[in-house]
Amino acid sequence: MGTTIVIFGASGDLTSRKLIPALYRLFQKGRLPEELRIVGFARSRFSHDAWRQALAESTAKFTGDDFDRDTWARFSATIFYHPGDIGNPENFILLRRLLDEVESRGSSVRIFYLATAPRFFEPAIRHLGGSGLSRQGNHDTRVVVEKPFGIDRDSARQLNDTLHNCFAEHQVYRIDHYLGKETVQNILVLRFANTIFEPIWNRIYIDHVQITAAEDVTVGHRGGYYDKAGVLRDMFQNHLLQLLTFLAMEAPVRFEADAIRNEKVKVLEAIRPMSLDEIAESTVRGQYRGYRQEPGVAADSRTATFAAIRLGIDNWRWQGVPFFIRSGKAHACRTTQILIQFRRPPHLLFDTTRSERFQANRLLIQIQPAEGIQLHFQTKVPDAGMRIRLTSLDFRFREQFADPLPDAYERLLLDVAAGDPSLFARSDEVELAWGIIDPIQAAWEQSDRPDLEQYEPGGWGPDGSRAWVESQDRQWFDVCPVLK
Ligand code: BG6
Repeated sequence: MGTTIVIFGASGDLTSRKLIPALYRLFQKGRLPEELRIVGFARSRFSHDAWRQALAESTAKFTGDDFDRDTWARFSATIFYHPGDIGNPENFILLRRLLDEVESRGSSVRIFYLATAPRFFEPAIRHLGGSGLSRQGNHDTRVVVEKPFGIDRDSARQLNDTLHNCFAEHQVYRIDHYLGKETVQNILVLRFANTIFEPIWNRIYIDHVQITAAEDVTVGHRGGYYDKAGVLRDMFQNHLLQLLTFLAMEAPVRFEADAIRNEKVKVLEAIRPMSLDEIAESTVRGQYRGYRQEPGVAADSRTATFAAIRLGIDNWRWQGVPFFIRSGKAHACRTTQILIQFRRPPHLLFDTTRSERFQANRLLIQIQPAEGIQLHFQTKVPDAGMRIRLTSLDFRFREQFADPLPDAYERLLLDVAAGDPSLFARSDEVELAWGIIDPIQAAWEQSDRPDLEQYEPGGWGPDGSRAWVESQDRQWFDVCPVLK
């Protein structure tokens, strides 16, 4: 059976920057299904050849040394273009004819990828339904929905309803590109393919968990979008809560979509709701200096470009273990990292007055860009009595594995083609995640607490963030990773 991928939003940034380069690399590695066709759908008037030409240039730019003209020539023969307006149902009837033509009337896996601006998701889904393209029948049909999936729980629910009117849940693939990252999937391998971590992965041994997604970039040309979204919607509802579920979930009975997603949902359900006062005390927000001058940003904008929140998980494993989660733009460096901070030994035998400040064990999971894991532990300083010092075991993906890490979209596209939704969010998961973010967003909009603090670009967010975490007898792990 052949496979057809229809990309709505074919002339957009995501298609040229991520989707086509990922498909090209998969083709180069011989990983794509046989008999593949890629059909672009957008309003611009391209011929098949003109679109192939435009993609040749962008793909050469985004794949660098991996770009090879002969391979591209073979790959681009699978690419077609269909000019059309998503708002017009007629165009979906025409699309259906084109698909029947290129598929030579055989049955196919048909993947409809919504890479458009979010306001086009619902009309596209409705017209896929109306034109009969969503039907399973002869074809095995799937729909991929890009982020943002709604702007709050109500809009996410509505989008889910629209999807479910035309597609069954198992046909729907909601993208969160973090789940396509090798290092994110490796959290499950670390926890569930080893025996040494799981016995200590709980409230008895772990003091707290820090999840940090720092970016050195500012919002740049995305001010128009970002000023309406803000950091909670942009990073927390999706990527950071996904990381949290992988860290906190119980072992699923099988490595299979619903088994995994059921466990993730239990974590989200166990996150303790917060009152207005608790939100004021459990969150910090900031905006980098200069944000209001960015193009597309309101001159008096109160949108947060930094947030830190403390979440509690009400279950036996995690009761009393704070999860500190933070993310911000215009930081000292780009790093996504998870710190598992273990407890101090109950009774210290060694004189620590002559050593540096005593630090308990920690496991540092580097998601990017220094992909790897470090275990920090105390060691005796040789020839210095019983002086001790924190040292580390340092595992790096790039040192252990010769091939470069693939882009997240490669894995996700392969999984959609194979019909495996394990690394995609289910409808209940997305709605629960909004249910955690909405009250914080609403509290921030209604009240002045916590303050929206301005911070200098190039650091680790507002000063208040450090003071806040220190007032809870903890410290942020503000260390830029060393790339080896
Ligand atoms: C996107 C956000 O979803 O993720 C961006 O919209 C953010 O604001 C990006 O920069 C971060 O992704 P990554 O893969 O670079 O960590």
